[in-house]
Amino acid sequence: MWLMVVSVPLLSAVVMVLSCYSLTDASLWRRALAWALRRVRGAASVRSAHAFVFSNCTHGKADSVLETFDLYADTHPSLCISPQTAEELDAVVKRVRPSRVLELGMHCGYTSVRLLRLLPPAGRLITVEMDPLAAELGEEIILVAGFKHSQFQVLPCSSSEAIPTLHPFLESDNGTTDGLDLVLMDHDPQEYLPDLLALEREDLLSVAGCSVLLIYRNQRAEDRREILDHIRRRPDSYCIRSELYSMLEISYKKEKQDGT
Ligand SMILES: *[C@@H]1O[C@H](CO)[C@@H](O)[C@H](O)[C@H]1NC(C)=O
Ligand SMILES: *[C@@H]1O[C@H](CO)[C@@H](O)[C@H](O)[C@H]1NC(C)=O
Repeated sequence: MWLMVVSVPLLSAVVMVLSCYSLTDASLWRRALAWALRRVRGAASVRSAHAFVFSNCTHGKADSVLETFDLYADTHPSLCISPQTAEELDAVVKRVRPSRVLELGMHCGYTSVRLLRLLPPAGRLITVEMDPLAAELGEEIILVAGFKHSQFQVLPCSSSEAIPTLHPFLESDNGTTDGLDLVLMDHDPQEYLPDLLALEREDLLSVAGCSVLLIYRNQRAEDRREILDHIRRRPDSYCIRSELYSMLEISYKKEKQDGT
């Protein structure tokens, strides 16, 4: 813990000193250190959100877990999506009524709990989190909210590692694979397009159609442009359903193959 407390101001100081030296080197270093700083702060924030929610919510009640997260976010910097985005997310889930959901980037488990509470009894959530600490603490929050391991699966790895391994998790009792009805991406926006292409390539999106929700926390115009360009080039498969400041909804429909 002390290491974390010391390292945050230390890193900032190093960034400042470096920025006085050669500009190109410094800008590279600054980016690397800013990344490290975000990781350290992210870990601190996940731990503190988890402790707050774990000790202040009513165990077994998903709504209480969500309210306690909201309470935390009122007074602390938090990785939870904003209340407006959360409402939008609920509206999409109620409209799509998915039973197979993939979440990429679970952070503290807030959106996982939001999604799970709206799934049908036989529904299933697969959630992928690259940071092993966040994955562990997020999983605990999902259990605290009252959900069972038969309803969800946490994969502590990167999205590109997780996607090719998803088939077994989507198999139904009779051995057929049910595609994903909803995909929520809230990890690294630079991975959104490669991951969408990988999901399509692996044939993981439901043939009946799939909604893909992309969360943008820190808007970088180029991340968004790249994926929008891709979608506009494929009007037979994709359409943009809604485009809000922090959430983009894309509808996917499998293209009909010639001669079938
Ligand atoms: C629980 O909530 C109280 C008041 O909202 C807060 O002061 C306390 O720090 C919380 N517990 C933890 C472990 O964060
Ligand atoms: C397999 O089960 C699913 C429901 O779990 C059903 O929708 C599907 O039609 C079944 N497929 C076959 C080939 O029986």
